[in-house]
Amino acid sequence: MNRLYYGDNLTIMQEMESASVDLIYLDPPFNSNRDYHAIYKSETGRPINAQVVAFTDQWEYTARTEAASKELPHAMAAVGIDGTWWLGLASMLRASDPPLLAYLTYMTERLIIMRRLLKPTGSLYLHCDDEAVHYLKIVLDGIFGRTNFRNQIAWQRIKGAGKRSQHGIKNYGRSSDILLFYSAGKTYTFNAQAISLLYADIEKSFPFTDKKGRYKRRSPFRPPGLGPRPNLCYEYKGVFPPHPSGWTVKESKLAALDKAGELEWIGQKPWRKQRPSSGIVPNNIWTDINPPSKSERLGYPTQKPLKLLDRIIKASSNEGDLVLDPFCGCATTIEAAHRLNRR
Ligand SMILES: C[S@@+](CC[C@H](N)C(=O)[O-])C[C@H]1O[C@@H](n2cnc3c(N)ncnc32)[C@H](O)[C@@H]1O
Repeated sequence: MNRLYYGDNLTIMQEMESASVDLIYLDPPFNSNRDYHAIYKSETGRPINAQVVAFTDQWEYTARTEAASKELPHAMAAVGIDGTWWLGLASMLRASDPPLLAYLTYMTERLIIMRRLLKPTGSLYLHCDDEAVHYLKIVLDGIFGRTNFRNQIAWQRIKGAGKRSQHGIKNYGRSSDILLFYSAGKTYTFNAQAISLLYADIEKSFPFTDKKGRYKRRSPFRPPGLGPRPNLCYEYKGVFPPHPSGWTVKESKLAALDKAGELEWIGQKPWRKQRPSSGIVPNNIWTDINPPSKSERLGYPTQKPLKLLDRIIKASSNEGDLVLDPFCGCATTIEAAHRLNRR
């Protein structure tokens, strides 16, 4: 069933069935020490003056967080996780950075439940940035186990210089967000084929086209430095290869390539056509996904692009699977999942 809940994800997830979810994507507050406002547009498309607080990202260590922090090792033990690691982290931060401890307590409470909700083949992607990623990595290692850490992905969120102080530049622009990708176990869904790309600069790399698609020209002759090959030194359609290195392939293979249209004759000289491989799985630096386009933007301050969720959902779930976004914002994940026939 498709379902949208309104409320605190902590209480809602507590009610959910264990091992029921295939993929969790979460884009929680990043500990940025600010509030986020939504700017809604009127029917004529003009921004409405009144801004609505979408969510707050400021943290304070209170008696309630103190109690919640103390409870966390027990909450982990209840789902079979050894939570002693939390004691060290909490005691360090209680002294040095209580607001960060408040933030991590809030995140850890929820991540323990998310781990319980995942199916054994499921995955979780935590979207964050460099503000708290190193602490969140420790938390996720503690909950999922280090061996279930799959990737740290940098998504280039801003093209150009990135966010920096206006008053004298003293650091590098912050232009990327970070996604931590964990699987519940060793065997997990990953559809490499579904997300494979052609080379980004395919037109440059494979400049020619025929009815089968793009290709580049490669010499059919072996480089002389590779040494003599008498058996590859034969005449083909009146062409002699350089002596004594010869052709790259035997005569029967060359004739088969020619017949299949895989040689291009320019004047009297043949070239081999080299085609791109069917695709390449993206590496962990994503520079090909832009922020939401104008037509995609809904006025929500931290809206993520559909293309980002599209890649994650295609890679880490199958049609009919259940996708959970516990920090749904303006519902980018829901829309992407719906378009891809996930629940
Ligand atoms: C960074 S935004 C998510 C943006 C979203 N990925 C999108 O594309 O629109 C974080 C969201 O989490 C929500 N949120 C924060 N704490 C929450 C909680 N305890 N329970 C449920 N939602 C929460 C905020 O209201 C906000 O909508």
